[in-house]
Amino acid sequence: MKKYRESLLSNRILQSIRSVIKSKKVGLHEPYLGENEKRYLKKCIESGYVSYLGEYVLNLEKKITDYTGAKYAVTTNSGTSALHLACRLLEINHNCEVLMPALSFVAPANAVSYMNGTPHFVDIEKETFGIDPQKLRNYLSNTTYLTNLGCINKRTKKVIKAIIVIHAYGQPAQIQKIIRIANEFKIKVIEDAAESLGSFYNNKHTGLFGDIGVLSFNGNKVITTGGGGALLTKNKKIYENAKHLSTTAKIKHKWEYIHNEVGYNYRMPNINAAVGCSQFERISKLLKYKRRLARKYQIIFEDFDEVKFMKEQKNSFSNYWLNTIIIEKNFKSIRESLLHKLHKNGYQARPLWEPLNKLKMFQACPKDNLAVTNDIVSRTINLPSGYNII
Ligand SMILES: Cc1ncc(COP(=O)(O)O)c(C=O)c1O
Repeated sequence: MKKYRESLLSNRILQSIRSVIKSKKVGLHEPYLGENEKRYLKKCIESGYVSYLGEYVLNLEKKITDYTGAKYAVTTNSGTSALHLACRLLEINHNCEVLMPALSFVAPANAVSYMNGTPHFVDIEKETFGIDPQKLRNYLSNTTYLTNLGCINKRTKKVIKAIIVIHAYGQPAQIQKIIRIANEFKIKVIEDAAESLGSFYNNKHTGLFGDIGVLSFNGNKVITTGGGGALLTKNKKIYENAKHLSTTAKIKHKWEYIHNEVGYNYRMPNINAAVGCSQFERISKLLKYKRRLARKYQIIFEDFDEVKFMKEQKNSFSNYWLNTIIIEKNFKSIRESLLHKLHKNGYQARPLWEPLNKLKMFQACPKDNLAVTNDIVSRTINLPSGYNII
């Protein structure tokens, strides 16, 4: 009987989703690329400057600062490389731990590991899927102490140097509360806004609250450069160091090749920036589309007691990068069959990320109790959210 009821429920959900999606087959998040992108690419190719020189990189950085309100932006060849740079700039090393939500894409934990630091996982809140500020405060109060070196983990004796806040699926985390706590405990803040271009908290763009913010322009994001990212900061020294390190730490000179530290080749090529400049010109339209799609999903799920559509919270403006539904606890066993049904019908939905603490390489990392993460992951689905749906 239970199985029968569950099957009816997943069929009803499938029908409702079908009423929103006009195409027969849709991916999770396909980009919108049109004539404008082709025009910019053609111009870029004709100029001959397809690689690390050319006007589009600087134009794109200007568009990013104009749109977000960031003081400085440095474009990179991926969001992951921008995160790596952020960890290097905050001097993460083998003696440091970096707090981050267990519910995240793998990039933040990788970036910390590249610097030989240790990821340290904390729990999320169910409303935003961002770090739970109250739980964070309690955890830090119980497990750390402050010295002139900073916040020390009582158990490992390592310095908790930074916290990476993730605005998951485009929903702003409670960033102001988290920053207040970080300041109290002398912890630096990196904001991973890879998924939240176009999302605001108290009318300020995500990625602008912490010491460093990071964006991604991967093909599945709100706008794309093919592959790419950006580092945002209000600090001139961080900006200059980010530029220097991302361009192989080469000292400026017309013909000499001298590098004064170990840097990275993390520059965004001009040809990618050309696509980004064109994409930025349509960002308002794209965001309007995304919010219209989210509204459609929201309306259909108002008819369900068993499923909740994830909405933006008070003080937040979400880009609804990936639309998300949370199945009520009693019905969570339908998640697998629902995913199967959606895929069978051509709709690429997906479960949330596997929590980072469960990935083989991070299983030994320190962590708080992750009850909310584990619960949410077991009953949540991301729905198709790209530009070919309505
Ligand atoms: C939360 C988060 N952080 C970082 C990244 C890394 O960005 P990229 O794929 O551009 O390296 C992504 C996405 O891809 C992401 O979703």
